[in-house]
Parts: sequence; structure tokens; C-alpha cells
Amino acid sequence: MIEEARQYIENSTDVRPVIGVVLGSGLGAFAAELTERVDLPYSELPGWPGSTAVGHAGRLILGKVGDMDVAVMAGRVHLYEGYSPAQVTFGVRVLGTLGVRSMVFTNAAGGINQSLTRGGLVLISDHINLQCSNPLAGPNDDALGPRFPDMSEAYSAEYRAIAKAVAAELSIPLAEGVYAAVLGPSYETPAEIRYLRAIGADLVGMSTAPEVIVANHMGMKVLGISCVTNMAAGILAQKISHDEVLETGAMVRDTLVRFLRALLPRLEPGPPRARS
Ligand code: HPA
Repeated sequence: MIEEARQYIENSTDVRPVIGVVLGSGLGAFAAELTERVDLPYSELPGWPGSTAVGHAGRLILGKVGDMDVAVMAGRVHLYEGYSPAQVTFGVRVLGTLGVRSMVFTNAAGGINQSLTRGGLVLISDHINLQCSNPLAGPNDDALGPRFPDMSEAYSAEYRAIAKAVAAELSIPLAEGVYAAVLGPSYETPAEIRYLRAIGADLVGMSTAPEVIVANHMGMKVLGISCVTNMAAGILAQKISHDEVLETGAMVRDTLVRFLRALLPRLEPGPPRARS
């Protein structure tokens, strides 16, 4: 199926993306920035998950940011929706076989570290995968990557340095922290947030870790950016709602677009994929 989706995309456009971007909940606006754009609804793409989920619009947009060929996934699927780890990472696999060497993942997250603020952007320095699954479990396809991939720099230090420089140039405040990936879909209890803080997490969310594992497996360079859509459970005397998450996404939309527009052309794509 990965091969079929790759062929379908290659037949739809001359754009040959070297960088991929995944836009999380409420953060889809950046897709409109691409020039020479081809817009492919997931429902058109062979094997692409999300195609049948009612109300879960998702599109793959290929085009250019400056001179750079880019693929943008506007909308992702999550484990909490019942999708398998393979389905959740399908898009990253397809982009990898298309020639994408670097991935930028964005997501909505709850802020655990009290120095974070709602609406702030945070560079992900590392993650803690608490989703009780790994997309690489099962037989390894040696053509895609190694059996035991290293994860000691899952989020490129070089890319983080570039992101900090670009944010400083644009006067965009940018924190940095560790992202804990949980299954969801219920938000955490205050006790769970105290636990996550104790084990070193600054942010909590329900996505990204599986995609980052697969991107590392394929030897891609990765950048992760969380948008703090709410403070995590128990920090404020208020409940967490999905509406708040989407509302905050809308608040930071323009800042994130400005940031990504300046950042992407500065990211040198990772090395070509080794084929075995
Ligand atoms: N917890 C988990 N996932 C989230 C949150 C949260 O508080 N906010 C946005 N995604």
C-alpha cells in the first residue's frame, strides 16, 4: 500500500518533497502558504487512513516554500481513534519513500511545566513514549531501516538550534521541553500529571511519538513543535476541553505560520536514505 500511495502522489505532481510537515489539531493554516500547490484529500490516496472517518478531513498538500519542495499533512490520525500504529505512521512511511529526508511535526499539547503558558510554542527536545505501543513492533523491513534504531537524538539538535535562531530573529518566544505521549482520548488526571512531571515531562499529548519513531527508523532528521493549547490537568482551577484546545490553536495560528515559513527553507534536509 505504501508503494501504491507513493506512485499515486508521484503521478499527481512534479513536486518532489524533501521536507515533510505534519500539522496538528487546529494548526492546519500553514498549508495555504505553499505555492504550485497540489491538494490531495486523504480519501483519494490508496491505503491512506482517515479516508473513511466521518468529519475527519485530512489532506496531503504538495508544493513549494520558497525554492524548497515540501509535503504537508494537514490532519493526522491517532491511536485513540482506534487506528493501528502502522496506520498512524503510514503517511510518514509514504513521505519517506517519496524522498522526504526531514520531518517537522507540530501538535497540540498540555503544558505540565508551570513556566509554560497557554498559546506558547515549545520545541520538543525529546519524548517519553507512554502509549504502550511501538510502530516498529513486528517483523522489521530492513529496506526501510534497522531492527534496533538509535533514539538518542530523536529530535535533531542541529534543527533545534536553527529553530531557536529563527524564532529569535522573528521575536517569537520559544521554550523547549520533553513531550510525554499518552494514548488518550481522556485527558489526564491531576495525579497522572504529577507523575508525568516527576518523570521529566514538560508537555503531554496524544500523538507524535509513533511518527517520530518511524521517521528516525528511516534515518530522517526530525523537528517537533508543540503548541501549548492548555495547561495540563490540575494546574489551573478549570476543566480541560477540546474547544479550548482548538481555540488556542486558532490563537497561535498566524505565529506558527510565520515561524514555519521562515524556518523550513533554513533546514538542510537529512542525508539520502541508505538502501539495503
Ligand atoms: N493532554 C493530552 N493531550 C493534549 C492536551 C492535554 O492536556 N492538550 C492538547 N492535547
